[in-house]
Amino acid sequence: MKLKVFVGRPVFEEVLDSLRQHFEVTDNQADVLFTPEELTRKLQGQAGAITTGTERIDAALLAACPQLKVVANMAVGFNNFDVPAMTAAAVQATNTPDVLTETTADFGFALLMATARRLTESEHFLRAGKWTKWRYDMFAGAEVHGSTLGIMGMGRIGQGIARRAAHGFGMQVIYHNRSRLSPDLEAQCKARYVSKPELLQTADHVMLVVPYSADSHHTIGAAELAQMKSTATLVNIARGGIVDDAALAQALKDRRIAGAGLDVFEGEPQVHPELLTLQNVVLTPHIASATVKTRMAMAQLAADNLIAYLIRGQALTPLNTVQVQA
Ligand code: DGY
Repeated sequence: MKLKVFVGRPVFEEVLDSLRQHFEVTDNQADVLFTPEELTRKLQGQAGAITTGTERIDAALLAACPQLKVVANMAVGFNNFDVPAMTAAAVQATNTPDVLTETTADFGFALLMATARRLTESEHFLRAGKWTKWRYDMFAGAEVHGSTLGIMGMGRIGQGIARRAAHGFGMQVIYHNRSRLSPDLEAQCKARYVSKPELLQTADHVMLVVPYSADSHHTIGAAELAQMKSTATLVNIARGGIVDDAALAQALKDRRIAGAGLDVFEGEPQVHPELLTLQNVVLTPHIASATVKTRMAMAQLAADNLIAYLIRGQALTPLNTVQVQA
């Protein structure tokens, strides 16, 4: 008899087909958004599940789903998982690292460019029929090439952004991270380690790529925004909650900083209402990894993790070590 697995959100049909070769699959191609209680009921009797960042796997759910052996997140971030609770319940947790690194770094750079060069603001102006003449200062933005980029969070994606900035745009790259990169990696990224205050005070553009945790909650709030240059821009492709969105909206309104590019939001898909009224912010709906090729690779890696763990006993990209009961 085939084991049962549940796919919590819509995915590519090819990925479902690869799962059906091994498992009895319940999908959610209709994209029903389940409450935590409904998700718990859906996961009862399932050996494995694929989730995205919106489905929370915590101790209460795990206690009600004793047959669950593995949950594969179709994301590199996993702040929707209570990993210690999963380990305690002997549930394997996996994510999708590497396959989205370069695509996400591309998007971080795109958002930086769009913010600094006021791309969406000027497009809205043109579409509104307001373009009647050329002016020397029309949508004059901030320089990207040759400027200083401060990257907070220097994991794989941060390093990808650093390489683009240093090698492609001749930017000076400074970074702050929990741990310093090896001299080799610093040389490859042409990046210099600095303290958080130095980064905030020196950078022309600040890029956030830190993972979300209780420790990184509101890494950027009013105090940090006050340290930034008034001409600086801030880009967040990490997670909602890393930035205090209310404080950011106020800083943008007061022109305390020049602009922001945001792909992630506190309480998304809700967006702080003040942000929606401002011109000097570029807003995108959490799409940094969204190319067809990369989303396919993420979905397939999540499925392959279920297959590898449930059929062969070893996940491909594990987040925890699980003691399997004899
Ligand atoms: C990730 O992979 O963490 C992206 O943010 C998509 O959720």
